[in-house]
Amino acid sequence: MSKNVLVIGTGTIGEPLIGLLAEHKKSLGLDSVIFFKRTPLSDERGKVEALLRKGAEIVSTSEALPEFTKLGFANIYDVEKAYEEADVIIDCTPSGNDNWDNVYSSLNQNKRFMAQGSEHGFGSFFAWGINNEVLESEDNKFLIASCNTHNIASIVKSFALDQQRELTEGRFVCLRRANDVSQNDSFSPSPTITKHTNQKFGTHHARDVHELFAQDGIELNLFSSAIKLPTQYMHTLWFTLTFDEHIKHKDILENLRDSEFLMATEKMSSNKVFSFGRDHGYHGRLLSHGIVAEQSLHVKDNTLTGYCFTPQDGNALLSSVAATVQYYYKDNWKNKMEIFNRYLFKNI
Ligand SMILES: NC(=O)c1ccc[n+]([C@@H]2O[C@H](COP(=O)([O-])OP(=O)(O)OC[C@H]3O[C@@H](n4cnc5c(N)ncnc54)[C@H](OP(=O)(O)O)[C@@H]3O)[C@@H](O)[C@H]2O)c1
Repeated sequence: MSKNVLVIGTGTIGEPLIGLLAEHKKSLGLDSVIFFKRTPLSDERGKVEALLRKGAEIVSTSEALPEFTKLGFANIYDVEKAYEEADVIIDCTPSGNDNWDNVYSSLNQNKRFMAQGSEHGFGSFFAWGINNEVLESEDNKFLIASCNTHNIASIVKSFALDQQRELTEGRFVCLRRANDVSQNDSFSPSPTITKHTNQKFGTHHARDVHELFAQDGIELNLFSSAIKLPTQYMHTLWFTLTFDEHIKHKDILENLRDSEFLMATEKMSSNKVFSFGRDHGYHGRLLSHGIVAEQSLHVKDNTLTGYCFTPQDGNALLSSVAATVQYYYKDNWKNKMEIFNRYLFKNI
C-alpha cells in the first residue's frame, strides 16, 4: 500500500510539520506528504511554494481549486481524493474535534487520525518517548500532547518515574509566551493570569499530564498555574517536585544527563535558547521535550525546584511524525526516527 500522510492546516503547527515530513520523506519511508490548504490567500503564496519545493503536495476543496490555480498552483487536487488515499491524517487546526464530527468519522476507520493538544477529548494522549506503548493499542485517534504537556511530562518522567522516586506532589507554573513569532493576534501587553478553572489541577496543563500518565494506570498529584507574558519567545516552565525521600543535587544532574528527551543549558534567558533553535533547530525549532536551565536546579531535603524552557512546538511536531512513522513501520519505526537525532542536543 502507498504510504501517504495528509496534514490539515498550514498554520503555526502545520507549516513546520509539513516541512519536517516532506524533507525527510525518503528516510521515513513515506510516499507522499499532502497538505490541505483551505483558504487561497495571495499573501500565503510564498509559504505554499516553499512547502511544494520541499516535496509536499497541495490539496483543497473543489470550490477553492480555481482560486488556487489563479494564484499559480496548477498541480493541486481535491482534498476528497486525499482523504481516500492517505492512511494517516494529522489535523493541525483549531477545529480538530469538529473536523472529526464533520469529516474524519465518516472515512475508513483503519486510518490513523491525530489532532493537536488543545482538542481535548479527540483521543488518547501521545507524547513520543513518554508513552510510545499507546500507539500499539487498537485506537485510531490520538491527541498529540501540547508543547507544555510534553515538557511537564518529561520533567516528571526524568526526575521521578524513571528513577523510581515516589512523587508526592508536582507543582508547575507555565510562564507562557503571548503568541508565536508567526502570529499577529493575542499579544499581551502585560503579564496576564490564566484562571484556575480546574478545582483539582488548577489549569488544564496539570490535568493533561495527569490524564496522559493515568492512561498507563499512574495516578499523579499535580497542580499547574499559567501566566501569559509579553514575549514572543518560548514558554518557560517553573516546577517543583516533592518526593517521599531526600534527594541529592548531584543525582538530579545525573538524571538530567541521562534523560533521553530533556536537554540542559547554562543559558538563563529564553531568547538565548530561542536563538540557538533558530540557528540550529529544524524550521527554527528545537525538537527536545524541554531545555532545563541547569543552574536553576535547586534541591532542599526532598524537594527539587527548577526552570525548563519549552521548545515552542518542536516536541509536538516530533510526536506527530513519530505517530505517523509507527503506523507504517511497526517494527522499525524507532530506527527511522533516528534521522532526527541531529536536531537533538544534550547541552546547548
Ligand atoms: N501554536 C502553537 O504553539 C501550538 C502548540 C501546540 C498546539 N497547538 C494547537 O494546534 C492547533 C493549530 O494551531 P496553530 O497555531 O497552528 O493554528 P493557526 O496558526 O491559526 O493555523 C490554523 C490553520 O488551520 C487551517 N484551518 C482552520 N480551520 C480549518 C478547517 N476547518 N479545515 C481545514 N483547515 C482549517 C487554517 O487554514 P487557512 O488559513 O488556509 O484557512 C490554518 O492553516 C490548535 O488546536 C492549537 O491550539 C498550537
